[in-house]
Amino acid sequence: MTTQPTLFVSGASGHLGRLVIAALQSRGYDGKIIAGTRDPSKLADLKGVEVRKADFTDKAGLVSALAGVDKFLIISTDQIGTRLAGHLVAVEAAKVAGVKEIAYTSMPNPEPTSAITFAPEHFGTEEAIKASGIPYTILRMNWYTENLLGSLPGALASGKWYSSAAGGRTGYVSRIDCARAAAGALLLPAANKTYTVTGPAAVSNAEIAAIATRLTGKPLELVEVDDASLAAGAKAAGVPDFVVDNFIVAFDRNAREGKVDLATDAVETLWGTKPESVEAVLVAHKAALAA
Ligand SMILES: NC(=O)c1ccc[n+]([C@@H]2O[C@H](COP(=O)([O-])OP(=O)(O)OC[C@H]3O[C@@H](n4cnc5c(N)ncnc54)[C@H](OP(=O)(O)O)[C@@H]3O)[C@@H](O)[C@H]2O)c1
Repeated sequence: MTTQPTLFVSGASGHLGRLVIAALQSRGYDGKIIAGTRDPSKLADLKGVEVRKADFTDKAGLVSALAGVDKFLIISTDQIGTRLAGHLVAVEAAKVAGVKEIAYTSMPNPEPTSAITFAPEHFGTEEAIKASGIPYTILRMNWYTENLLGSLPGALASGKWYSSAAGGRTGYVSRIDCARAAAGALLLPAANKTYTVTGPAAVSNAEIAAIATRLTGKPLELVEVDDASLAAGAKAAGVPDFVVDNFIVAFDRNAREGKVDLATDAVETLWGTKPESVEAVLVAHKAALAA
């Protein structure tokens, strides 16, 4: 019988959750891994794990799901705007169930001065975890490099990338490296540490545009504007107000303010491998970029 701690990964059917479980299995983890999801049928294909229903809107159900769990990875949910309540339920349920350690996927510099409108959800969760008295590891994941695959194709198609980041740099990190950091955190004893998880270097939009042009052969001009012009242009192009205000403008302001200009050794510290560069991720998705 294994003496390894029992691990629980919430949101296991999401992109990150699946990658965390795969990372744990790639290291031959021989303790029990429990995959928590709102819809266990989505994980019917997952081998070597126990699947339990886990929904942060159902505290009693979550307490049952956490029975016998030693370490609980709380993956922040995608319910932006309403998720703090669910995250707090997750922490309370962990306490009731006697979970011994918590790891949580947060964001860089989520303190109240952040321009990011959902930062308080992460900061509030971090504070609740610290107040719970349960040993923790906070993983402040920088923006996924893969986010660029959502914005770059459109910019490449028009030849222009409008930005109010004013040269601000971002330490983009690939989703797989975030998963490795989270898996590594579960394999190490929690020591009440907060890591900012980043790629190997912080890069500017101009540098990213140059990489994208080199990979696709399509010219991409970076057009620096102010926040108001950026918002007006995006809204005129039909982008929903919610996306413009909470993502496009807020993210550029946040970059301009240096809040994501971060390059740390967290991936290597937690997992033992160097994180992928922005260029390596874009090369791997070259076809999607040019699409
Ligand atoms: N750093 C970044 O750039 C960045 C970008 C995107 C997202 N994120 C954050 O990182 C998280 C993981 O990223 P991802 O790529 O894996 O996102 P994703 O594929 O969209 O996954 C969303 C996750 O939210 C979970 N979830 C939603 N409602 C829930 C509830 N009521 N109770 C428990 N879990 C719930 C889902 O779990 P089930 O469906 O399995 O229940 C799923 O794991 C996101 O949810 C978001 O908070 C960060």
